[in-house]
Amino acid sequence: MAEVVFVDSKAAAGTLAAASIRALITQKPDAVLGLATGSTPLSVYAALAASLAENPMDVSRVRGFALDEYVGLPADHPESYRSVITRDAVVPIGLTPENIQVPNGDLATIETAGVDYEAAIRAAGGIDVQILGIGRTGHVGFNEPGSSFASITRIKTLAEKTRVDNARFFASPDDVPIHCMTQGLGTILRARHLILLAFGEEKADAIAAAVEGPITSSKPGSVIQLHPHVTVIVDEAAASRLENLAYYKYAWANKHAWQGI
Ligand code: GLP
Repeated sequence: MAEVVFVDSKAAAGTLAAASIRALITQKPDAVLGLATGSTPLSVYAALAASLAENPMDVSRVRGFALDEYVGLPADHPESYRSVITRDAVVPIGLTPENIQVPNGDLATIETAGVDYEAAIRAAGGIDVQILGIGRTGHVGFNEPGSSFASITRIKTLAEKTRVDNARFFASPDDVPIHCMTQGLGTILRARHLILLAFGEEKADAIAAAVEGPITSSKPGSVIQLHPHVTVIVDEAAASRLENLAYYKYAWANKHAWQGI
């Protein structure tokens, strides 16, 4: 069962996740982080940056793999996920840019980009902690409904709903790429710890389906039920359609501090 943790603000979620990442880096200075884009993980990156500013530690050996990338956008496009991850995470946290990999959305090498990315993750020893948001379609990464639980990094077609959601970052909805490269659900399952964050009522259905719904590729977030170490950090609105709420709160309130998240 995923552990479900309630927070009253995005900042509190960020502090909790950042403390766990910091503890990981203390133990393993070349830890491998799985980095997600979107608005949801911003509080985690901000909290980690603030914690490092207040109490510095060497993060120069930390490595990172982004979850996904648009296909066909130049890497230096401001909305490529390479640019977004650099702006939102790498620069504020002070990670070493050369240590951060993003799936390659270049059409010229697209046929081999997925297996190459999987090989790079394997060569790094796998991902220690994967930060995840969730889309309104229930997607994690860009694994839209129907994605195989065994899938690896590959090209996918974005759902119209996802393109509409992401149109806010582009001049026109037509500018949102139709295709992406995303880590697969199988890739995500191989990360050693998953931290899934969600805020707001518009994520309540996706969270309920992921945490308590049937395990089905129609709800890609439900893949977390197959993973042995998952922390779901939610506010009350995102948690509002969970049935087992009282138990999650009781379990969290009675958890031993040594267990961490
Ligand atoms: C994009 C990303 C996902 C992210 C989702 C939700 O589609 N590929 O990784 O979880 O957006 O975005 P937000 O966190 O802004 O709601």
